Amino acid sequence: MSERNLATLETPALLLDEARMQNNIDHMRGRMQALGVSFRPHVKTNKSIDVSRRLMDTSEGPITVSTLREADYFASHGVKDILYAVCIAPNKLAHVSRLLQDGVQLSLILDSMEAAQMLADAAPNMDRSLDVLIEIDSDGHRSGLVPDAPELTEIACFLDASGINVKGVLTHAGGSYDCRSVEAIRAMAEQERLAAVTAANRLRAAGLACPVVSVGSTPTALFAEHLEGVTEVRAGVFVFFDLVMAGLNVCRTDDIAISVLGTVIGHQAAKGWTIIDAGWMAMSRDRGTSGQVTDQGYGLVCDREGRPLEGFILVGANQEHGIIAHRSADPSISPQLAVGDQVRILPNHACSTAAQYAEYNVLNKSNQVVAVWPRFNGW
Ligand SMILES: Cc1ncc(COP(=O)(O)O)c(C=O)c1O
Repeated sequence: MSERNLATLETPALLLDEARMQNNIDHMRGRMQALGVSFRPHVKTNKSIDVSRRLMDTSEGPITVSTLREADYFASHGVKDILYAVCIAPNKLAHVSRLLQDGVQLSLILDSMEAAQMLADAAPNMDRSLDVLIEIDSDGHRSGLVPDAPELTEIACFLDASGINVKGVLTHAGGSYDCRSVEAIRAMAEQERLAAVTAANRLRAAGLACPVVSVGSTPTALFAEHLEGVTEVRAGVFVFFDLVMAGLNVCRTDDIAISVLGTVIGHQAAKGWTIIDAGWMAMSRDRGTSGQVTDQGYGLVCDREGRPLEGFILVGANQEHGIIAHRSADPSISPQLAVGDQVRILPNHACSTAAQYAEYNVLNKSNQVVAVWPRFNGW
C-alpha cells in the first residue's frame, strides 16, 4: 500500500476505527453465545470481505445479504452459506440459478403464494433444490405474513409439495429503530421472538420440520432477554454503529467505528458557519436522527483524532458542501477551525454513509492508516 496518513488523505474519505469495530464484534458475538443462538451477520452494512471475515464463524459463512450482487461478491471470496433476505422476484431467478450452479448454498425468502408459485414453476429448471424461509411480519414495519395468517401454512405446504425445502421462518423487527426507550426495545425483541416462534410452531403442527427460526436487528439482538425457540440471529449495523443507534441508547458515540474525514474550505462568519468539503454525497441524505430526542443534523462533528467538538453538528449539506454550526445556532460560537483543518463527522446511518465510498481507510489506535479495505456498491 502506498503511504497514507490522515493529514495528506484527499477528502472526503471514509475512516474505519479497527479497534472500535473489533470491540463491537466481540460484544455481539458474546451476546449470541450467552443467548445460545447461532449468528448469521448481515453484511449489507459493510459490503467488504475484510470486515466480514471478522464477523463470520468460518470462511464459508454463514452470512445474510440484501442483494444478489452481495451474494456474488462474497461467493467470489469463498463464502458459501448465504441467506438472501429480501423477498424473491421473478427477474432474479436466473441469477439465483447461477449462484446455485457455482455451489453457493443460497436460501431465499418469500411471503406470498404468487412468489411460491413462481418458485415452484422455476424449481424443475434449477440445478439444485431450492431452500426457502417464509418471512414473518413481527412489527407491522414492512413485509411478511403475520404469524397467525392462514396463508402461512398454505404457502409452506404448497412449497413442500412442490419439492422446495421449507427451511423455516425469518423476521426482522425493523420497528425497533422507532423505539423510544431501552424497555421498548426489550419488549420489541420479545415481540420479534414470539412472532417467529409462533409461526414456526404452526408450520411444525402442519407437519413441516421448520429447523430454522431466524430473527434480528441490531437493537433487538442487543436487548433480547432470552431467545427461546430461536435458532439464529441476524444483525448488521452493530459492526460500525452510528448516531441513530447512539440515539436509541443501543451504543455510545464512542463505539461508532466509521466516520467521514472532511476538510474546512471556508467560513460564513456572520452566520457562525464553517464550510467543509463533505456534503450529502459524502454523508448521504439520511436524516435518521431527525425524529429522535437529539437531532444530529447530517452528522456529529469531531476533531481529526475523533474527539467530539462539543455542540457542533453538520447543520446543512449541499452535494459537496457541508455546513458546520453550533446546534444552538448561536453564530458567536465557533469551532475555531481554519481553512485546511480536518474534521471527522460521525454518520447518522452507517449503511448509507459507507455506501458513498469504494474503500475504508483503516485506522489503528494511533490514528495511522494501516490498511485500505475495498468495499463495493450498487446492484
Ligand atoms: C432482513 C434483515 N435482517 C437483518 C437486518 C439487520 O438489522 P440491523 O442492521 O439493525 O442490524 C436487516 C437490516 O435491515 C434486515 O433487513
